[in-house]
Amino acid sequence: MTAMTVPGIDDAPVQNARLLSWVREVAELTTPDNVVWCDGSDAEWDRMTSRLVEAGTFVKLNEEKKPNSFYAASDPDDVARVEERTFICSVDEAGAGPTNNWMDPAEMKSIMTELYRGCMRGRTMYVIPFCMGPLDAEQPFLGVEITDSEYVVCSMKIMTRMGAPVLPLLDGPAGDRFVPALHSVGAPLEPGQQDVAWPCSDTKYITHFPETREIWSYGSGYGGNALLGKKCYALRIASAMAHDEGWLAEHMLILKLISPADEAYYVAAAFPSACGKTNLAMLQPTIPGWRAETVGDDIAWMRFGEDGRLYAVNPEFGFFGVAPGTNWKTNPNAMRTIEQGNSLFTNVALTDDGDVWWEGLEGDPQHLTSWTGQDWTPDSDFPAAHPNSRYTTPISQCPVVAPEWEDPQGVPISAILFGGRRKTTVPLVTEARDWQHGTFMGATMSSEKTAAAKGGLGQVRRDPMAMLPFLGYNVGDYFQHWVNVGKGADADKLPKIFYVNWFRRGEDGRFLWPGFGENSRVLKWCIERMEGTASATETAIGYVPTAEQMDLTELDTPIADVEAALAVDVEEWKAEIPLIEEWFEVVGDRLPTAMRDELEGLKLRLGL
Ligand code: GTP
Ligand code: MN
Ligand code: MN
Repeated sequence: MTAMTVPGIDDAPVQNARLLSWVREVAELTTPDNVVWCDGSDAEWDRMTSRLVEAGTFVKLNEEKKPNSFYAASDPDDVARVEERTFICSVDEAGAGPTNNWMDPAEMKSIMTELYRGCMRGRTMYVIPFCMGPLDAEQPFLGVEITDSEYVVCSMKIMTRMGAPVLPLLDGPAGDRFVPALHSVGAPLEPGQQDVAWPCSDTKYITHFPETREIWSYGSGYGGNALLGKKCYALRIASAMAHDEGWLAEHMLILKLISPADEAYYVAAAFPSACGKTNLAMLQPTIPGWRAETVGDDIAWMRFGEDGRLYAVNPEFGFFGVAPGTNWKTNPNAMRTIEQGNSLFTNVALTDDGDVWWEGLEGDPQHLTSWTGQDWTPDSDFPAAHPNSRYTTPISQCPVVAPEWEDPQGVPISAILFGGRRKTTVPLVTEARDWQHGTFMGATMSSEKTAAAKGGLGQVRRDPMAMLPFLGYNVGDYFQHWVNVGKGADADKLPKIFYVNWFRRGEDGRFLWPGFGENSRVLKWCIERMEGTASATETAIGYVPTAEQMDLTELDTPIADVEAALAVDVEEWKAEIPLIEEWFEVVGDRLPTAMRDELEGLKLRLGL
């Protein structure tokens, strides 16, 4: 076959042969009008954003209120991750496990190859070199995303380290390990055909090939489906790498807490999507003398350091945060971060003076343009912003970012929190007896479904370690991996594990615990447990504080509510057991014996 000459290929800015042949192959398959290598410069950002404004995809926001920032409204059907269209195409079906959709890799590739054929017609194909984690890491984690979406290019500039600085790494020792990540919105343009503001396709596939470390995504422009460095690489593919190499890739925030004695503690926390990671990551403590700084808000890569402690790195460069509910009271630091501009806002509402608004934000707008483009007033019977609307903003702008957030060694983790959104049963905080018990807590954690994924809002489901939608391999093997990580480590140096629930409700549906900044009281208790200075009460499910055992100074929540938030209701837990058993049935024969033992222990302690 004669190689066709595509501009942007013959003059590519790298030598990496594997990369060049892949770029050429994709260009030949998808037949874009041209090929552009992204350099990540501000000039490129200006070019791209102007183009998107012209195309009607972006609205430039009021420069005074949100400098260099843009608003985008997606297709009303392309607003969240599509879990039912997400596949782990491992060689063996068992490799994907019972919690993932699976298809034979060859079969999937042949289906998707037909979808990709000619799919970039009339569009530009962008090649985005990127790096997850610091560029100066001993072993940088490289990727290259090919996309036909300028929205993706702009978003990737905020969310990852990308462009020119990555090129020398692609030609360096780590170059061959780059993860190829192919994305198309799946909306080719015929000559003269007018583009729509948000091109996408009704046919969507978000596909991962864990053995060959490849990502193929088709049909969606939404963040989690299209910014392939994030969920697809840094969680699904990285979890498979981590399993093979003995480390952990987790859906966790990383928070630095500084005590009144100026002691720093790093905490990682796994909560399902839209359950409070970004909020906790930017916590403004309410207890006097305590300070908090942010290292990461969504993903943690953790490996053991030479000193035997577990170190965490945030592989991302930006925050992709849930907008609704974010305000000066719930997350002042997120507000300060986006106020500085250089941000994108997707599916929020637009104010008449060119700013953004969403449910829960301060202000009392009398008229808005909703995310669906409709006139909105306070009397409207539909929300102004989509519940999963998001802001995309640089971490470096966060006023409380920890100075060490880009340290390639990471930060030593003292505590791991697991948490879900449960109206009942799960107390505000429970300390695990040891690593294996903590692994059991993570393996059995549950949450009510949120708007971050399509369908089933409010339904309780098991979401192990908040990784259910993000695990790149068999969930039973994943639990065994967690058990093994603990076994191989020095028990004294392992992080302590806690299970938290900010979302328990009273009979009238009110939250029993005020949450947000007040969560610092829970963190303080966790740290004092590690220091041996706080007491706890041993219960069937683990160590739980009474209200007296926590620092509630000047908390204006009724003490009875705090007590109800902390209560261990044995009857509720007895009712939870069949649900856990049902879940373990789903996990199947790869469920570690250690997890069965933990369940038996819990049943005994509950008197079952
Ligand atoms: P992803 O970014 O999708 O992974 O989710 P996330 O875990 O970062 O979720 P985020 O922090 O954006 O949480 C969003 C939702 O959780 C909003 O509805 C918040 O109001 C709510 N939330 C966060 N923290 C608390 C809390 O302490 N108490 C209560 N009641 N709600 C909270
Ligand atoms: Mn997330
Ligand atoms: Mn978040």
